[in-house]
Amino acid sequence: MQLQKQASRLDKLMASRLWKSIFRSGRGASTLHRSMAIQQNVFLHILPTKVRRRMLNFDATWYLGTLTLGTFLLLVITGILLMFYYHPSVPQAYADMKDLRYVVSSGLFLRNLHRWSAHAMVLLAFAHMFRVFYRGAYRPPREFNWVVGVILLLVTLLLSYTGYLLPWDQLAFWAITVGSNISSAVPVVGHKIHFLLLGGNLVNANALLRFYVLHTVILPLAAVLFIAVHFWRIRKDGGLYVQQSEPARETAEEARADENTQQVVVKQ
Ligand code: HEM
Repeated sequence: MQLQKQASRLDKLMASRLWKSIFRSGRGASTLHRSMAIQQNVFLHILPTKVRRRMLNFDATWYLGTLTLGTFLLLVITGILLMFYYHPSVPQAYADMKDLRYVVSSGLFLRNLHRWSAHAMVLLAFAHMFRVFYRGAYRPPREFNWVVGVILLLVTLLLSYTGYLLPWDQLAFWAITVGSNISSAVPVVGHKIHFLLLGGNLVNANALLRFYVLHTVILPLAAVLFIAVHFWRIRKDGGLYVQQSEPARETAEEARADENTQQVVVKQ
């Protein structure tokens, strides 16, 4: 009874003028309407209008790409919450870490959630890359998406690296000193990269500010941009790759579902 009431309220909402002004095509009963609902939504249109049912199974992708995305979203949420407590200035940054541990309610949990999600994202991105390689999904026409993936992996590693300095403790300070010194070993432009990264020749307040801006603004925006391109590319490449060596399909229904892989072309 309660469920029926809620369903009718939802139907009323979806029939309202406000709703229709935002979501133009509604849910619809036909394939055409359903695909239009995806294509005309700014958030959904980067996703495919149709997917092969078996590509939704766990063993098709081990959900590694989706889990990588999940950890990224968790990092964005916990990162924003951490920004309410953290100041990127030299004496204050370390004091803020102490406050998070001893003063802020659930502060230690928040910091650890951010830290462990970062470790998990790096591991999952690597595992996802190995899955794509193992299944041969990097081959044409998906080679461009592989390159986008490599950029995403680099952005993920840079996010981890820039976050490392922010606590401004001994571990962070010396890890960044060693790491940034490695960059000066690059032939010809090494010293310029080192200077650009730190905003000087030493790891000091300038470096902390640069790493903070990179970590909280530039790299997350780059990640969002490339993740959007990555998903849009999956759609343009005809959905997820189906392994050639898969066992024969069991039923005619499954076979028909597999043949029905073309994107629905909607006349605007
Ligand atoms: C922030 C990091 C990344 C995120 C959030 C992400 C997300 C995803 C998702 C959700 C999918 C579809 C489902 C799946 O395969 O699990 C996918 C597919 C794909 N990803 Fe990634 N990915 C990332 C990094 C990478 C990396 C490092 C590579 C390779 C260097 C890569 C290459 C690909 C390719 C080629 C596909 C298409 C696979 C197919 O057709 O079966 N991605 N990605």
